[in-house]
Amino acid sequence: MEFVERLKSAVDIVRVVSEYVPRLEKRGARYVGLCPFHNEKTPSFTVHATHQFYKCFGCGAGGDVIQFVMEIENLTFYEALKHLAERYGIPMPKQERLSDAESRLRGALYSIHEVAARLYQAALASSAGAAAREYLRQRGLPAALVEEFGLGYAEPGGQALIRRLERDGFARAEIEESGLVIPRQGGGWFDRFRGRLMFPIHNESGKVIAFAGRALSEGDEPKYLNSPETRIYKKSYVVYNLHRARKAIREADGAILVEGYMDVIGLWGAGVRQAVASCGTALTVDQVRLLRRHSDKLVVNFDADAAGGEATERSIQLLLEQGMRVRVLALGEGLDPDEYVRKYGAEAYQARLRTAPSYFYWLADRVRTRFDMRKVDERVEGLRLLLPAIQRIPDKLERAAVAGEVASYLGVEPGLVLEQFQRAAAQRKREPERRPREPLAPTELVLLKALVADAEARRQVLPRLVGLRSLEGLRSRPLLEAMAQLESGGAGFSYAALEARLAESDKALLASVVFADEEDQEPDALAQALACLESLKQKDRELRRAELRAQVKAAEREGRIEEALRLAAELSRAE
Ligand code: UTP
Ligand code: MN
Repeated sequence: MEFVERLKSAVDIVRVVSEYVPRLEKRGARYVGLCPFHNEKTPSFTVHATHQFYKCFGCGAGGDVIQFVMEIENLTFYEALKHLAERYGIPMPKQERLSDAESRLRGALYSIHEVAARLYQAALASSAGAAAREYLRQRGLPAALVEEFGLGYAEPGGQALIRRLERDGFARAEIEESGLVIPRQGGGWFDRFRGRLMFPIHNESGKVIAFAGRALSEGDEPKYLNSPETRIYKKSYVVYNLHRARKAIREADGAILVEGYMDVIGLWGAGVRQAVASCGTALTVDQVRLLRRHSDKLVVNFDADAAGGEATERSIQLLLEQGMRVRVLALGEGLDPDEYVRKYGAEAYQARLRTAPSYFYWLADRVRTRFDMRKVDERVEGLRLLLPAIQRIPDKLERAAVAGEVASYLGVEPGLVLEQFQRAAAQRKREPERRPREPLAPTELVLLKALVADAEARRQVLPRLVGLRSLEGLRSRPLLEAMAQLESGGAGFSYAALEARLAESDKALLASVVFADEEDQEPDALAQALACLESLKQKDRELRRAELRAQVKAAEREGRIEEALRLAAELSRAE
């Protein structure tokens, strides 16, 4: 057995978690408590003893025992293994081989990024990097900061990285998957990044998973060239600098969201350590969830231009929907955070940060510039625009207080605000309630539960599910296919292995099926799974018949008589 598997079977996740979560309450095979990764008053953090897996339905955190230790102790995978092995007295082999092909490929991709990061760093320090060093000097980045952020330089020739990777013995497929090289016409590759200042992008456990390369001369487009998505880099799921900032975010109980890599670095250099950025994309739900594990408070500090304003407005909506408490820091004078600390210093920035107003004042200011505040109807119109944001404030008393304040800020009668609120509330009641759960057909739900619960059901049913057309329309199809893959791969089933193969939304679906259930035992999982299989096969036959009927009609219509007869015969056999 691989060491990771041996460790996981020797260490009980419930025991490990209970060292960090004081009052875990037992409910069947599940244990429920207050989530250690976000602030909450009612427990939504669940540990499943059978599946050795935890899941928080508040912040979305979830994983196996190793993931838990990585998260809570801020460790890399390997460090977490070591931590658990030492804590529970399990001897650890010197060199741990990663288990399946997918993990090996991912491992190689991490190594390639590490090699690349070192190569770029060395190039920056070498004679080839003189111009890049000069650029950094002009921008006032001290060497220590350059070092800390692992900045580097990609040489213009386009062969340095590919040669190194080939020399280091990485396989073709690994190099290709890394996204750091581009195939050349007529075979071979050249480096994706050439003549650029390189910013490594890390995942939350501190591994380099991608790069952004900044142009060094005006007119070299794009200004930032970013890595493409790969197996280890999903843009929408990465927050730049989170692995460094997470500690400060917890300590300060709040993050600062800025637009650019340079803003993050400039602020860090000035001692402001809780700044993060999205990696050249609009803020996403997944990024907000990552942040919320550390604090539910956030200050948006985007560039003081029109685009920054638009981006701020969009981010506010998203952040509020995810239950974050949002303030906005508008620096003015067209300054971005990096320029501001450079011009006015860290103290001044900290002061502005402390007094940054809640998002609705910022929104109200925008409304004031858009509407003519001397006219009553325009004031009311402006208020109406603000209302949705105010209504997202979760606390009722706070919401009323804010509404009052904003009304007086805009010079609107408080009575009017109340009226608008009541109208909106009445509207909401008429709208159908949104279902938080993914819609699963009853068959799917039963089938999933049975398969997760029972090895014999998996053995008998999964191979026969593959290829059924009736799977196509099912919401649970990715889950079923992943289970079938695990089964045919012979690696054996575990909740963690299954979840590792799923996209985020499917992980959530899996958790909602397995964790939300009060019962622990499916009485006859095998029989249930077989019945579901039968009903899916039945549906397949119906689909086939419908298809044949349509083909018969089409053939008749077009006068292909022989074919129509043949199809009709086939249809009657199928009935
Ligand atoms: P900025 O142009 O504000 O960059 O874009 P910056 O980080 O402040 O860098 P400097 O100070 O001009 O050198 C903000 C962010 O938008 C993304 C990058 O993530 C950048 O940090 N971006 C920008 C791209 O992905 N591609 C681009 O071409 C430009
Ligand atoms: Mn900028």
